[in-house]
Amino acid sequence: MSKTAAFSPACERNRKPILNELKTIVRPEDRILLEIGSGTGQHAAYMAPQLTNIFWYPTDMEDKIAGIEQWRQEANCERIQTSQVFRVGESNWPLQSDQADMVFTANTFHIMPADLVAQLIQQAGENMHKGSRFVVYGPFKYGGDFTSESNREFDRQLKATAEHQGIRDFEWIDGLFQQAGFRCLKDVSMPANNQLLAYVKTS
Ligand SMILES: C[S@@+](CC[C@H](N)C(=O)[O-])C[C@H]1O[C@@H](n2cnc3c(N)ncnc32)[C@H](O)[C@@H]1O
Repeated sequence: MSKTAAFSPACERNRKPILNELKTIVRPEDRILLEIGSGTGQHAAYMAPQLTNIFWYPTDMEDKIAGIEQWRQEANCERIQTSQVFRVGESNWPLQSDQADMVFTANTFHIMPADLVAQLIQQAGENMHKGSRFVVYGPFKYGGDFTSESNREFDRQLKATAEHQGIRDFEWIDGLFQQAGFRCLKDVSMPANNQLLAYVKTS
């Protein structure tokens, strides 16, 4: 990889366990996967070549687009689409309504302000078709408790960096998905005290 491209060591560690789970969720008839908050672009570059029926649409804020494009070019996979700006809370849904068979987002819910997390789930509910899936990877709290001391410390660091950041309550996220017409398919414990949540649109 080019020495100038942004690099996330965490992505290198978590990409394989995430891909293994995605392979159990993606259906043979699925085509379009929209990624929100692609970051460096490493997940797209690693996963899309191995999900052979999927056209991967990376998105993020303006400042991430050049970096995602570097990883996309390196991956040399024609099914990874040119990355687009999608700024939750400001942008319109980046695909046509009902086009996305899957949405995938990793490590974004504790970074975005809570009201934008809620807006994203609502927007997904308005724009995703029945049977489509929304997959979220990252840390969560359950019953108000952190799943590890390291997550408690991580939450403290997040809030010290920016007051609006923080590890979200699973029950709050689950309620938002239910209101938006989704049902929880899977809640899998992942390495490093993360979770992978998969929702299916039921209406
Ligand atoms: C911790 S990074 C995660 C990146 C990548 N998904 C990963 O797992 O390494 C959080 C990402 O969320 C993006 N983000 C934050 N607020 C956003 C918003 N309002 N709309 C879209 N993306 C946002 C950031 O630009 C950043 O790329």
